[in-house]
Order: sequence, then C-alpha cells, then structure tokens
Amino acid sequence: MDFKIQWFPGHMTKAKRMMEEQLKLVDVVVEMLDARIPRSSSNPMLIQMLGQKPKIVALNKTDMADPVKTDKWLETLKNSGLPVCKVDCSSGKGVKQMIAMIQQVAKPVTEKWLKRGVRNRAIRVMIVGVPNVGKSTLINRLVGRTKVVAADRPGVTRGQQWITIAKGLELLDTPGVLWPKFEDPEVGFCLAVTGAIKEDVYDRATAVEILVERLMSTYPQDLQTKYGIEFEADTPVRDVLAKIAVARGCLKAGGVLDIAKVIQLVLRDFRTGKLGRFTLDEPSESNNN
Ligand code: G4P
Repeated sequence: MDFKIQWFPGHMTKAKRMMEEQLKLVDVVVEMLDARIPRSSSNPMLIQMLGQKPKIVALNKTDMADPVKTDKWLETLKNSGLPVCKVDCSSGKGVKQMIAMIQQVAKPVTEKWLKRGVRNRAIRVMIVGVPNVGKSTLINRLVGRTKVVAADRPGVTRGQQWITIAKGLELLDTPGVLWPKFEDPEVGFCLAVTGAIKEDVYDRATAVEILVERLMSTYPQDLQTKYGIEFEADTPVRDVLAKIAVARGCLKAGGVLDIAKVIQLVLRDFRTGKLGRFTLDEPSESNNN
C-alpha cells in the first residue's frame, strides 16, 4: 500500500510526556478504541507506560462498525486477557456496563488500600485514546448526569476536575490524548479515513481510493446499494468513483466529472456512517494491545 503520512516526532514526544504526567494521577485507565479500527486505534506504548496499573478497553462507535466483526473483536481482546466492553457514546449504550467493569478491575486496588488502613478513598479513572475516538463525548455524557467535584488536589492542572461517576469512582474530566501510530501505512490509512489524523498530513484522494477499493472487496453490496451503481470485482477503483460521481451528480460545467467532490462525498458518507457499518481492521489479525 502506498499511503504516506507526514508525521512529526516532536508531537509524539510532547503527547507522551503529558500522558505520563496524567497517568500519575489515576488508578484505572479506560483505553477507548474505535470499533471500526480496534487494532489501528490502539497504542502499544500505553502498556509500557501503565506498568501494573489496571486498564479496561472500551470499543466505541459500535453503531458505525460491522456488528459481526465487533463481536469477534470482543472475543479476540477478551482472549488476550483484557477486560473489554462495547459502548456507543452517541446514544449512551453500554456506558453503565463500562462503569461496572471499571469497579471490577479496581477491586484489587481498593483491597490493597484497605490492608493499609486507607478507607473512603475514591478510585480515580481517566479516559485515553487517539484523537476523535469519542473521549470527550463520553466524558460529557458522564458529566451530564453526575455532579462535578471541584478539585483542589496536587497534580491536577488548573481547570481539570474530578467527576464522581459512581460511588467511590472519580473521573478526570480531561482525556488523555494518545498519539496515532504512523509507521505502518495500513494503520495510517485506517486512522486517516476514520478522522483520527488531521487532513493536512496525508493525501485525501489516495485515502479514499484505498477505502473504496477495500469496500469493493469486503462490503461490495453496501457500496452498490447505497449509490445505486454496479461494478465487478476487477473494475478499476477510478471507474467506480466515476460511477458514483455520475449517480450523485458530482459534475462540473460541461458535464465533466468532479472527482474532488466525489472524493469528499464518499469520505463524508463513510465517516458519518451513512454508507453502512464497516470494520476495517480484521479481528483475526494480531492485536498489539
Ligand atoms: P475525542 O474527544 O476523542 O477527540 O472525540 P470526540 O468526543 O470529540 O468525538 C469525535 C466525533 O465522534 C464527534 O463527532 C462525536 O459526536 C462522534 N462520536 C463519539 N462517539 C460516538 C459514537 O459512539 N458513535 C458515533 N456515531 N459517533 C460518535 P463530530 O461530528 O466531530 O462532532 P459532533 O458534530 O458530533 O459534535
């Protein structure tokens, strides 16, 4: 795959440093992954940074992911020993179960505290994940139905607050932003089309061509039905884009196809879930978590 991302190591160093500081404040971490790309949206460096700190995985945006593959991913992640749950933060589905799971993994921590005579100390939690995965949406949802505790504690940056989200459970209202992995072109592609990477560091047309090619082989029916077009498995991707352009009236003066417009249209349809429910990372592939 010829997909390049222009990336800046400096950004990664800064994000890593910030994450290390934030991690010092919490007892449990929720790593939020995009259910459409669970492998590409995970960050293997997090494990190293966590040490013994418990972590759960929350697969978000399940409403936009292929439900069969989401279940397979849940199995794969569970089999690798990770506590994992699925959520849909736009509707709030699964959030309650996620809180129960956090309480479950926090038990050894509270037991250790009890042995040392520490009582009434709340478990502190933080949501981490790559950009655009839904961290703020989840936090807002939790803030919406709970009270915010003004925090005056060491280590908490001004403006950061702890929110009580359940009995004995406090959430840091600022999410931890993990940097995307850029080295592998496949991972870069997945992060780009789902919107985790800013558009100015990759070529949008290339990303969409790869996306359409991928969907032609894994979800051909959705593509044909959605746009009312027909194609064969070996139809060149540019011809398919031209068919979509005609079907959707993406034309310039004189009837010339407006390829830039069709590229934008397909990307928007994919990102909003209008095109269908797709998972780009195959669950059978090895997981780096
Ligand atoms: P971040 O903090 O991790 O960067 O992500 P954020 O919560 O800002 O979410 C990024 C986008 O993903 C938002 O859409 C948000 O509404 C959407 N989103 C979050 N969770 C889900 C989910 O479970 N399902 C779906 N379908 N979408 C989800 P946006 O278009 O950028 O903003 P907005 O117009 O929704 O405000």
